[in-house]
Amino acid sequence: MKHLLKLMDLSKKEITDILNLADQLKYEKKNGIEHHILKGKTLGMIFQKSSTRTRVSFEVGMYDLGGSALFLSSNDLQIGRGEPIEDTARVLSGYLDAIMIRTYAQAEVEALAEYGRIPVINGLTDYCHPCQVLADLMTIREQKGMLEGLKLVYVGDGNNMANSLIVGGIKMGMKVATACPDGYTPDPEIIKWAKENGDYTCTPDVLEAVKDADVVYTDVWASMGQESEAEKRRLVFEGKYQVNANVMSVAKPNAMVLHCLPAHRGEEITAEVLEAHASEIFTEAENRLHAQKAVLVKCFENK
Ligand code: CP
Ligand code: NVA
Repeated sequence: MKHLLKLMDLSKKEITDILNLADQLKYEKKNGIEHHILKGKTLGMIFQKSSTRTRVSFEVGMYDLGGSALFLSSNDLQIGRGEPIEDTARVLSGYLDAIMIRTYAQAEVEALAEYGRIPVINGLTDYCHPCQVLADLMTIREQKGMLEGLKLVYVGDGNNMANSLIVGGIKMGMKVATACPDGYTPDPEIIKWAKENGDYTCTPDVLEAVKDADVVYTDVWASMGQESEAEKRRLVFEGKYQVNANVMSVAKPNAMVLHCLPAHRGEEITAEVLEAHASEIFTEAENRLHAQKAVLVKCFENK
């Protein structure tokens, strides 16, 4: 794999290889075993949206791998003043060894890869969040010992997280269900692909979707860039699309709860459920570091 633009581009084997390497890198880090696999390499990190986890885990990840990372806020880059992404790609390819980008349009990430000469990693777009889902799959496999056959249910807005969870889950042989309100369902092409390629159900009914779930996942009702729709969305989601004790009562008794974070307690998840599953959710956040280091190594291998 040269880039990580979206999970749809990866095979089951490529995902499995990333998860295996992530487990190994986690073990090595925990045991103080140095792994300077990317010694002297430089990653540029372009952020057009806020970030805690993605920024810090990529920066620390590059440091752990013996390289370095540059934080490039779009407010300070000429991109913010209209320099085309195609030109930025060609310029940055002359300085850096790889680029991570968090932005709005998926097309920008694809253009960066097309016009640049170095690996490009998608750190979240409006369309998908592949790095997060690799860490999620790692966390599920770590806890449950496998992925194949487990039921993964996403409750809430059919957003970037829903899109990537469907693709990642189906590719790894999981049963996937989404419970999203009408008008807020995941990407129609992804729904079509998932129905044709695996066990996927799409329903507006949360209790129907969550029944016998092994993993229950949720995310915010309004994503970054949708701030002006927050009130309108609240009216649609409130009281209906929340992971709470009642919803968890229909999942399997040992079901995990995951959240990409940041979480809005009292909205998409209750404080009670979040705290009851805090060890899973914060391990998931930690695993961003290990999974992304594996992604970086894999991208450099095939450069
Ligand atoms: N989950 C996630 O991507 O978090 P950040 O927005 O903090 O990077
Ligand atoms: N759906 C959220 C995910 C944040 C990690 C957003 O795009 O804001």
